Amino acid sequence: MKIAFFDTKPYDKPSFDKYGNEHGIKFKYFETKLNEDTVDLAAGYDGVCVFVNDTVNAAVIDRLYELGVTVVALRCAGFNNVDMKHAFGKIHVLRVPAYSPYAVAEHTMAMLLTSIRRIHKAYIRTRDFNFSLSGMTGFDLYGKTVGVIGTGRIGRVFIDICRGFGMKVLAFDKFPANGLDNGDTIRYVSLDELFANSDIISLHCPLTEDTHHIINEESLAKCKRGVVLLNTSRGALVEAEALLAGIKSRQVGAACLDVYEEESDFFFEDFSGHIMEDDTLARLISMPNVIVTSHQAFLTEEALSNIAETTVNNLVGFFSTSQCPNELCYRCGSAEDCKDGKCF
Ligand code: NAI
Repeated sequence: MKIAFFDTKPYDKPSFDKYGNEHGIKFKYFETKLNEDTVDLAAGYDGVCVFVNDTVNAAVIDRLYELGVTVVALRCAGFNNVDMKHAFGKIHVLRVPAYSPYAVAEHTMAMLLTSIRRIHKAYIRTRDFNFSLSGMTGFDLYGKTVGVIGTGRIGRVFIDICRGFGMKVLAFDKFPANGLDNGDTIRYVSLDELFANSDIISLHCPLTEDTHHIINEESLAKCKRGVVLLNTSRGALVEAEALLAGIKSRQVGAACLDVYEEESDFFFEDFSGHIMEDDTLARLISMPNVIVTSHQAFLTEEALSNIAETTVNNLVGFFSTSQCPNELCYRCGSAEDCKDGKCF
C-alpha cells in the first residue's frame, strides 16, 4: 500500500516509518501541504495522509477522486479542514479520534501557569542576570473558577488537572457528559453563566458552525474583567480582532493561544527572518500578557506514537476489510464517526 504523506515534519517520520514498516505501508513524505496546487503529487498513491493545515476542500476532493485516491487518512482528531459533505460518496475519510488528551490538557495548564506566574518573563530576565521581581506578581489558581467549554476527552482531563489545583469548574457542552456535574465543585451551566462567573476560560470544543467565533466582542463583554482566555482547540473559535480589542481595553487579562484563526499561513514554519504579514498576529504576540505556541499542544512522544499507530491501523483495517471504526461519515449525521462503515 502506498500513501502520500503531506506537510511532513522531521518528527513525523520515525513513528510512521516504524508502524508503516511493520504493516507493509510505504509512506512517501512530501514537505508541502496538500491543496489545489499540490494535489497531483497524490497520483499513483492509494491514499493521502494529512494534518490540521492541509486543505481537503471540494476541488482537492474532486481531483483526488479523478486520480483514483480512495482514502484521506487524517493524522489528527479535528476535521474542520475537510469538506465532509463533498467527500461523501467520493472518498473515505479516516481520523485519529484520540491520541493523548493528556498532551493537550497538560500543555493548556503549562500555558496558564506560564502566563499567570510570568515564567516567560522570568526566563528571559534571569538569563540576563536581572533578578528584579518588579511586575512579576501573579495570582493563586486555588479557589479560582475555570470555565471549560467542551467536556470531551481533553476537556475532562483539563478539569481533573484544575481540580488538582483546588479550582472550581463551570462547564458548558452541547452534549453534557453523564456523571461529571457533582452539584458543587463541577457544575454544568449556561454559556452566559460561564462567561459571567469564570476567572479563566478554556476552550476544548471542536470548530463547527455553532462554535465559530464563540469568543467574540459580545461574549467577551459578558466576561469578568481581567478574564484569562486559553485556546488550545481551534483558532477560529476566537475572533482574533475582538480578542485584541479586549486585551487593549484590559477586559481580557491574559490570553494563551496554541491555535490562531489564520495559522495555516504561518504555524509550523520558521518566519524568523521575514516581515510578519499578519498584523493581528504580530500585535497579539507583542502583548506582554499573550503567549502564543504554534499548535504544539499535541506534540509529545506518546501522542506521536499513538497517532502513527492509529493511522496505520486505520489504513490497514480499511484496505483489508473496507471498514474502519474511525471513519468519518457525513451521512451518519453532523460528520460523526461512522460506526458500521455502511453509510458510504
Ligand atoms: P471530543 O470530541 O472528545 O470532545 C469535544 C467536546 O466538545 C464534546 O464533549 C462535544 O459534545 C463538545 N461540543 C461539540 N459541539 C459543541 C458546542 N457547540 N458547544 C460546546 N461543546 C461542544 O474532542 P477532544 O479530543 O476533547 O478534542 C477537543 C478539541 O481539541 C478538538 O476538536 C480539536 O479541535 C482540539 N485539539 C487540539 C490539539 C492541539 O494540538 N492544539 C490536538 C488535539 C485536539
